[in-house]
Amino acid sequence: MKTIFSGIQPSGTITLGNYIGAMRQFVDLQEEYNCFFCIVDQHAITVPQERLTLRQNTKSLAAMYLAVGIDPSKSTVFIQSEVPAHAQAGWMLQCTAYIGELERMTQFKDKSHGKEAVSAGLLTYPPLMSADILLYKTDLVPVGEDQKQHLEITRDLADRFNKKFNDIFTIPEVRIPKAGARVMSLQDPLKKMSKSDPNQKAFISMLDDPRKIVKKIKSAVTDSEGVVKYDKENKPGISNLLSIYSVLSDKSIEEIEEMYEGKGYGDFKGDLAEVVVGHIKPIQDRYHALMESTELDEILDQGATKANFVASKMVKKMENAMGLGRKRK
Ligand code: TYM
Repeated sequence: MKTIFSGIQPSGTITLGNYIGAMRQFVDLQEEYNCFFCIVDQHAITVPQERLTLRQNTKSLAAMYLAVGIDPSKSTVFIQSEVPAHAQAGWMLQCTAYIGELERMTQFKDKSHGKEAVSAGLLTYPPLMSADILLYKTDLVPVGEDQKQHLEITRDLADRFNKKFNDIFTIPEVRIPKAGARVMSLQDPLKKMSKSDPNQKAFISMLDDPRKIVKKIKSAVTDSEGVVKYDKENKPGISNLLSIYSVLSDKSIEEIEEMYEGKGYGDFKGDLAEVVVGHIKPIQDRYHALMESTELDEILDQGATKANFVASKMVKKMENAMGLGRKRK
């Protein structure tokens, strides 16, 4: 059985972008693959976090994984910092990565741009992400489009390590969904929908109250043409909304365009809001029940045990390959 690994940062609320680009795929994939889904709290601290908020976001993300349909009897769900192998392997991979290639990462450039104090961790973030993936002999990494570059460097680092030390890593493939790989901001459809957007109207949180979701969709930026048609270049706003509609309703873009022929954006947005709320509301109900339960802690304990078992073996192999410590079997 092939292995899948993916992670999400507990750095704020989970957006509709995270769901459509990443989480939604996880649910189907767990039927066919040996899956590891991680809450990457060590990645979150590459930018400042408030201690209690980080704890709360970590728990909340765990509940969200399960609420969207990740089944802990099929998949391993765990918290990165509870599996020390990630930091250990991250260090070894940092020592095989070059500063130049890390400085060229788009995410590093975006997140450090104009900032006075940037943590060293923000620069060395990709080798930690590579460690996450490589520890589990991962074949496939399902992510949104923005993570593509991180997957490329992971493949480079794995290949470099294999050639320089010992051929121990599986070279992973990236899996980006055909539709919804880049959900755009509702207020500026040329920008990615992001949980860190200071404008709350720009993103839909998976935990937004249904009334808020309706309002956000109704105030989404479109154009003055009034024709529901997919044209990413000239009509980025309406095209983004059409993609969301299509992904969540399982209707093709063409079908939806036909449904709204001769109708205005008002009708379209009203129906889209219903589709989004109809999809998210049952997830929210399950989420709230899980947050109240004791089940969550048990699932995370089991997840950490399973992940530790697999990952610590790979760390030993890495240490042997690099000559760290004493030789162990
Ligand atoms: P993060 O936490 O920023 O995002 C989690 C997942 O959501 C996807 N995503 C989106 N997809 C479509 N449209 C959007 N607007 C959108 N915003 C976010 C991301 O592509 C991602 O799949 N570095 C990673 C976390 C990570 C990881 C890993 C992922 C750490 N280790 C190992 C995979 C494997 C990140 O910051 O994702």
